[in-house]
Amino acid sequence: RLNNKSIELGDESKKGTRVKVYGRIHRLRAQKHATFLTLKDGYGFLQCVLPAGDLTKNYDALLFAQETALVLYGELKKLPAGATAPDGRELQVDYFKVLGHAPSDTEAITNKVSRDQDAWDAAMLDNRHLVLRGENASALMKLREFVELAFVDTYRELEFRKVSPPAMVQTQVEGGSTLFKYDYYGEEAYLTQSSQLYLETVLASMGQVYCIEKSFRAEKSLTRRHLSEYTHVEAEIDFIEFSDLLDHLEEIISKVVDRVLNDETAAGYLKVLNPEFKKPEKFLRMKYEEAIEWLNKQDPPILNEEGNPHVFGDDIAEAAERRMTDIINRPILLTHFPVEIKAFYMKKDPNDLRVTESVDVLMPGVGEIVGGSMRMDDYDELIEAYKKNGIGHEPYFWYTDQRKYGTSPHGGYGLGLERFLAWMANQHSVRTTCLYPRFMGRCKP
Ligand code: 4AD
Ligand code: MG
Repeated sequence: RLNNKSIELGDESKKGTRVKVYGRIHRLRAQKHATFLTLKDGYGFLQCVLPAGDLTKNYDALLFAQETALVLYGELKKLPAGATAPDGRELQVDYFKVLGHAPSDTEAITNKVSRDQDAWDAAMLDNRHLVLRGENASALMKLREFVELAFVDTYRELEFRKVSPPAMVQTQVEGGSTLFKYDYYGEEAYLTQSSQLYLETVLASMGQVYCIEKSFRAEKSLTRRHLSEYTHVEAEIDFIEFSDLLDHLEEIISKVVDRVLNDETAAGYLKVLNPEFKKPEKFLRMKYEEAIEWLNKQDPPILNEEGNPHVFGDDIAEAAERRMTDIINRPILLTHFPVEIKAFYMKKDPNDLRVTESVDVLMPGVGEIVGGSMRMDDYDELIEAYKKNGIGHEPYFWYTDQRKYGTSPHGGYGLGLERFLAWMANQHSVRTTCLYPRFMGRCKP
């Protein structure tokens, strides 16, 4: 592997180890006296020098397009002072063999990865399988792997148990309009929008639980932060109050950020993507009603979707939410949304029955990355909430039963992994944060 640093290097006075390396060409620079290749293998980079002379008779520089797969043999040497290359070393090649040729157009594709949405045209998306080979995209996918595992490690540290709820379901969680329906042996079924309801059912047996599963939303609009399929980090906590939920959210996000920053390799990926990233200071806690006032107080006021000043009960639309978060420029725990604009299962605030014990975490550059709440734990109230939301209660018998068999004050949340990454890695769109983004009109490659 190209990241192996334990191999003894040579210099002017001593011979280095002769090694055999496999990889693909990341970059190529042909000079009169030598050809310089930067080789990559998914683990690291290595500069390889093919000198002029005998060797040149055996190859044609044109043979070396970016992405060509090669095996090379040679002596590994420390670089002379002043010269730079990955890990301060280079391979002085004495023999090589091409294993897989590549056409010469790859560079144009892989280097076009951009934070600019315009560059995310159909051609780039069609070529996603090649774009992924570029330096930014591969750093982002490696950061993504690290962040996902950092969530797992942090949940283990906090003694949460991981479960794996079903993706094929017959209940909605977040409204009928974004359900993907399909035929399940003749019955109507859906791809899950959230594992929340299932997580709630295992609190009694497992204690604090979490899952990292796919959620699906038939989003009928194209935005920077909506996908049809995304990775949902969800957790549920028993016997808590709303303030405990807010404290937990701040804690888990901070701990995951710390894990990235304290790991040399992960911090390296982040540096490639977002060199300016700093761990956020304490999160600002703000009520929905305060946010409405804040939006109206701006000069000029930030208006609602109809172009009017916000009034209590309005949705704070994506654009307004993002502007607010960008201006405030720190993480916000936005709480106490009105009952009417929130999901059926959310518990009302006992001190103000107009609002719910709900929270969105907002991050600069992205806006909402988390949605959570305390759950309605009273049986009669839940039955009433199904009715009010036009949801037939029959398919929810198992969920309703939780309120019959030892109900409890509990709450939880869902965090969109792609949005979390868009925030950390400063991506314009969530589309660059997943391998193969799925959204309206796009289901390939
Ligand atoms: O706010 P949402 O819809 O909340 C729920 O699904 C709750 N049932 C979760 C829970 O309490 N267990 O979604 C939660 C988060 C959002 O804040 C966002 O980060 C992400 O999921 N999300 C999406 N990410 C990408 N594309 C979409 N279409 C998304 N919809 C939600
Ligand atoms: Mg939400």
